[in-house]
Amino acid sequence: MPRHFLRDDDLSPREQKQVLQLALALADDRFARRPLEGPRTVAVLFDKASTRTRVSFATGIAELGGNPLVLDAGSSQLGRGESIADTTRVLTRQVSAIVWRTFGQGRIEEMARYASVPVVNALTDEFHPCQILADLMTIAQHTGGLAAGDGALEGRSMAYLGDGSNNMAHSYLLGGVTAGMDVRIAAPASHLPATPVVRDAEAIAQQTGGSVTITDDPAHAVEAADAVITDTWVSMGQETESGRGGETFAPFAVTESLMARSGGIFLHCLPAYRGKEVEAAVIDGPSSVVWDEAENRLHAQKALLTWLLEHPDAATAPHAR
Ligand code: CP
Ligand code: NVA
Repeated sequence: MPRHFLRDDDLSPREQKQVLQLALALADDRFARRPLEGPRTVAVLFDKASTRTRVSFATGIAELGGNPLVLDAGSSQLGRGESIADTTRVLTRQVSAIVWRTFGQGRIEEMARYASVPVVNALTDEFHPCQILADLMTIAQHTGGLAAGDGALEGRSMAYLGDGSNNMAHSYLLGGVTAGMDVRIAAPASHLPATPVVRDAEAIAQQTGGSVTITDDPAHAVEAADAVITDTWVSMGQETESGRGGETFAPFAVTESLMARSGGIFLHCLPAYRGKEVEAAVIDGPSSVVWDEAENRLHAQKALLTWLLEHPDAATAPHAR
């Protein structure tokens, strides 16, 4: 059975640390590992738009010695209704891993059931776990660093403000507590994280010493937080939904005064909408680490692919079954 990465908690706390330490090492020595030498091909499929994920996987696969095969839904038969099962059966006989950005989480879980090579979630409606690996790496770099030894992220805090019901909020919950962090989500009552995800995060936090706070008070959430984070109020696919503007989310916008309460760094997965979820003075200001964060997608995903290819026999993570 291959190892898949469909949700943040598909890596155990120990495994996540191994991936993050490799990511930090690859940031220092970019061409140190060549697990895709051959070249072996990795398919990178997009059912939704992407800039960072597309560029970082294509670049990273090439830097690992491999051949990136980047396909959009519109240029493959998947986009014309060929089934996930049949598409996967074809890909899995030819490529060494499959990376997919798609809609419902059930779609990528279905792909994993038919794949004999690792399947990686490059964003679904529910989770964006590759982004969180890059974000944890960025927090480690700016707050002491995992390279200094085990546990550098344990006890650190992140406050995410805005749409608590989206893929980023869910992934911060699961990925953050896996790292032993104190994860605070400040969101309006209409857009809270899914209860099963909160329960899973609380269970992981019990093991790692992390914690979960869900609040509607942004000032409380950011108090002394090591990292303050937000995301767009309108995720891909939600463009026509009502109630996704300032009338719902304005109190959760990241402002200079909230950043002053935190004293921490600012992260945003991007693309960002200045004047909506974040003030321009914050994202373009001294506490912002968003360009490091965007670069770290490359290092984190190279580390993840390397780790998955090197650990085919490791116990299969629960969500990939
Ligand atoms: N952060 C992120 O995943 O960006 P893209 O949508 O541009 O890939
Ligand atoms: N929540 C956003 C993240 C984009 C990287 C979306 O799904 O559109």
